[in-house]
Amino acid sequence: MKKTILLAIAILPSVVAFGQKAGGMWIPTELNEKEMKDLGMKISAKDIFNTQKPSIKDAVVQFNGGCTAEVISPKGLLLTNHHCGYGQIQAHSTVENDLLSNGFWAKNTEGELPNPGVTVDFITDIVEVSDKILPGSENLSPEEAKKYIAKNIEDFKATAKLKPFQKVVVKPMYDGNKYYAFTIETFKDIRLVGAPPQSIGKFGSDTDNWVWPRHTGDFSLFRIYADKNNQPAEYSKDNVPYTPKYSLPISIKDLKEGDFTFVFGFPGRTTEYLPSIAVEKIIQDIDPARIKVRDVALKTLDEKMRADDATRIKYASKYASVANYWKKWSGEVEGLKKSNAVAKKQAYEQKLGNLNPEVQKTIAQFNQLYTQQAPYALNDAYYQEVVRNAETLRLANMFVNYVNRVESGSANQDYTNSFKKTLTNFYKNYDGELDAKVTAKLLALYAEKTPQDFLPNGFQQFSEVNQNLQTIENWSKNSIISGRKALDGAFINQDIDKVFASPQLVATLKNDPFYQLALTLGSIYAQKTYPQLSQLQNQIDALQKKYMKLQMDTDKEKKFFPDANSTLRVTYGVVKGSNPRDAVSYGYQTSLSGVMEKYIPGDYEFDVPKRLIDLYQKKDYGQYADKTGEVPVNFTATNHTTGGNSGSPAIDAHGNLVGLNFDRQWEGTMSDINFDPRFSRNIMVNTKYILFVIDKFADAKWLLNEMKIVK
Ligand code: ARG
Ligand code: ASP
Repeated sequence: MKKTILLAIAILPSVVAFGQKAGGMWIPTELNEKEMKDLGMKISAKDIFNTQKPSIKDAVVQFNGGCTAEVISPKGLLLTNHHCGYGQIQAHSTVENDLLSNGFWAKNTEGELPNPGVTVDFITDIVEVSDKILPGSENLSPEEAKKYIAKNIEDFKATAKLKPFQKVVVKPMYDGNKYYAFTIETFKDIRLVGAPPQSIGKFGSDTDNWVWPRHTGDFSLFRIYADKNNQPAEYSKDNVPYTPKYSLPISIKDLKEGDFTFVFGFPGRTTEYLPSIAVEKIIQDIDPARIKVRDVALKTLDEKMRADDATRIKYASKYASVANYWKKWSGEVEGLKKSNAVAKKQAYEQKLGNLNPEVQKTIAQFNQLYTQQAPYALNDAYYQEVVRNAETLRLANMFVNYVNRVESGSANQDYTNSFKKTLTNFYKNYDGELDAKVTAKLLALYAEKTPQDFLPNGFQQFSEVNQNLQTIENWSKNSIISGRKALDGAFINQDIDKVFASPQLVATLKNDPFYQLALTLGSIYAQKTYPQLSQLQNQIDALQKKYMKLQMDTDKEKKFFPDANSTLRVTYGVVKGSNPRDAVSYGYQTSLSGVMEKYIPGDYEFDVPKRLIDLYQKKDYGQYADKTGEVPVNFTATNHTTGGNSGSPAIDAHGNLVGLNFDRQWEGTMSDINFDPRFSRNIMVNTKYILFVIDKFADAKWLLNEMKIVK
């Protein structure tokens, strides 16, 4: 008897996890409360989202338009990822005072650093408004419907009664079958409070990115400031810390496998309801094309970055961003294959088709449209990636745009100023000689992979890398685009104003051979690819809207959630390890000992700060050790997350913060297209590690005093 009970307890976690059939990013006003409670949640949907009284949603914000952050003290203290605050931390860094390397901890509120331009958005209300947007659009053509709906949205927004710091955003859900209005309050005075050194906040860097087991303290702290009436205001030294409606208590209890968590934030984009043919194209065409281009670019950059420190620093952030999705797409392709996504979707289409012949018709139309679109979509994937990664080509395109503006008379002072700023930033981290190599290789790849029809006449001459390099080198020496010809020495000194002062600028640009190449490539793309691509895409979008509705009407058993679209969502799951490959099984949690196992002194990815080593050696863990005597660092769970969920709070059954979401496990990144609880895991920083770093490592006790810590 005793034995069976023990056994039941031992297998409980996995039973619970697989009780969760699917993922889901739920609109907070329409939670799947029953399953959340079945998985262990003790609070109720009303505690999560409530417009009548303070609720958890009042502590969750979109950080600077991309990431998520949460309020963790009654004085407006904000927690988000280190990689989300990276730009701000970098902006306050100089060679003498390098906050990225050394970390930063304000001693008091006076020491907190302002970040002009950074915003934080609270969602104060969510209402479905489909009946105000959709009626009358049913029988219009896709193009007409688009215009009609856009007008209804504008009309609806005009009726909203708003405070000066509020706005309403109306977003389509379920591929345009429903519309929801979000009331948003934007705060604009956001100050940097604290950040660990990169050797904690970015520990493992690109090698460990998307990887489990993970040991990254990916967090930073900011604070929201408001005016004297506690309302949003532009930055002013007279502003005061914001008093939030709600702030999250922070738990430092041990986590165990099977524990319920939910992640509350702003997931960016998913496509879970595509037909099988679309997924097939992603696996066969789109992802491999993007990966191929980035492979070439990354290898070329890496050679010089390894050989030369200055280049490494200059290209670090760019390299990380190119590598981020390169790695994600390769995980996505593997995961889609491994989870049999296409076969699963085909079987589902069959099942629905048997119930409703309209589904069969729709799938047949999809097959036709996607097949027709395939060559354009493939060319588009190559073109976009080549232009993005061949920096000189991207630069040339910026000038093409500039010349267009000038010649059409729309290059006003504001535009020119902002273009100059863009250029200044571009040149700061640009190495023309290095990029000549990247560009030479990417042009050759493009010549090889692109059918004749999509290429300008004579482009075949670019199929040879070494010859390209010679050509580009020759051009570059004369090219104002590459910045290597001194137009009065200006680009080299990065004196952009001087360049724009030249009366012949436009003529000089138009004579530049690299400019001409970019212009030709771009106009062929604009003629031969883009119109067909987008015309077919409009048809696909309209059909997807129909297919979404068919799925919802036909599949009565399934509970549907809308794809992510950067709006506030709740996803839930249980703390859980994984079995990503045959005979491989991962635990759910890592610890400080694991940081030390990865430690490589002086390495740019795996160095560990001396103070952290000291704490580790003395085992000076205070209240942050778990019952095994370790400080837990990261953990995984079955929450269905995506890009934009970075910085999202992971909250336990009782509503306490237990983790900070920052990544996913590589083997499960197909979750954007086919979430599979067998393989998909989100990765979070344990709150114990965050508080340990703030307390023991940084000695920033004044911050801990603001927080409500649940022991
Ligand atoms: N993979 C995570 C996300 O998609 C983290 C990215 C930042 N870290 C990095 N090493 N690039 O955003
Ligand atoms: N790292 C991602 C982010 O920055 C999160 C993810 O893709 O899982 O939002």
